Amino acid sequence: MAENVPPLPRAKAPADTEVTLNQLMMPEHSNGHGNVHGGIIMKLVDETAAIAAMRHAQRPVVTVAIDSMTFREPVRVNDLVTCRARLTYVGKTSMEVGVLVTAEDPITGVTTHTNSAFLVFVALGEDRRPTEVPALAPVTDDDFRRFEEGLARQKQRLARRAQTP
Ligand SMILES: CC(C)(COP(=O)(O)OP(=O)(O)OC[C@H]1O[C@@H](n2cnc3c(N)ncnc32)[C@H](O)[C@@H]1OP(=O)(O)O)[C@@H](O)C(=O)NCCC(=O)NCCS
Repeated sequence: MAENVPPLPRAKAPADTEVTLNQLMMPEHSNGHGNVHGGIIMKLVDETAAIAAMRHAQRPVVTVAIDSMTFREPVRVNDLVTCRARLTYVGKTSMEVGVLVTAEDPITGVTTHTNSAFLVFVALGEDRRPTEVPALAPVTDDDFRRFEEGLARQKQRLARRAQTP
């Protein structure tokens, strides 16, 4: 590890590593009808969540799972997209991150919740193998609820993995 990386704390609160990423949607993000491609939003979601996971782990991370994503509202060219990412559940080497995506028309100020997603990242050590991360220390009632829900989702993912050839 680089010398300027601080030592890992034993635990971090979800609020300690929250990330907000804003991106103005440009014509190159869209199809021919002014709607933004879903893949552009998925990339922003993955990037925002990965930054939150890296802040928590203080290590490089890789995406190991992305739960299904449903687009509730279209995102249009000239919309300001905001992704907010927050750690919800942490295992030994894995971290679940929840991301909320909104799109704002900067002229009217109308903001819509376009989609939400949960992603799982694994921190890698210098040997590129999974390495232990600080625990997640829920603070608020919502933090505790999200942690329990994240644990339940993770159990389901691992059950699905066990069934996948
Ligand atoms: C991430 C990776 C190193 C994990 O390797 P592995 O041999 O499966 O490691 P493990 O079985 O020890 O799992 C490591 C952690 O990931 C979790 N995990 C593994 N597969 C998972 C899945 N499908 N869903 C959710 N969590 C998963 C495990 O539960 C474990 O968590 P824990 O330590 O908190 O209990 C390996 O799967 C990998 O390199 N994947 C590719 C990642 C990548 O390149 N992503 C970008 C894609 S373009």
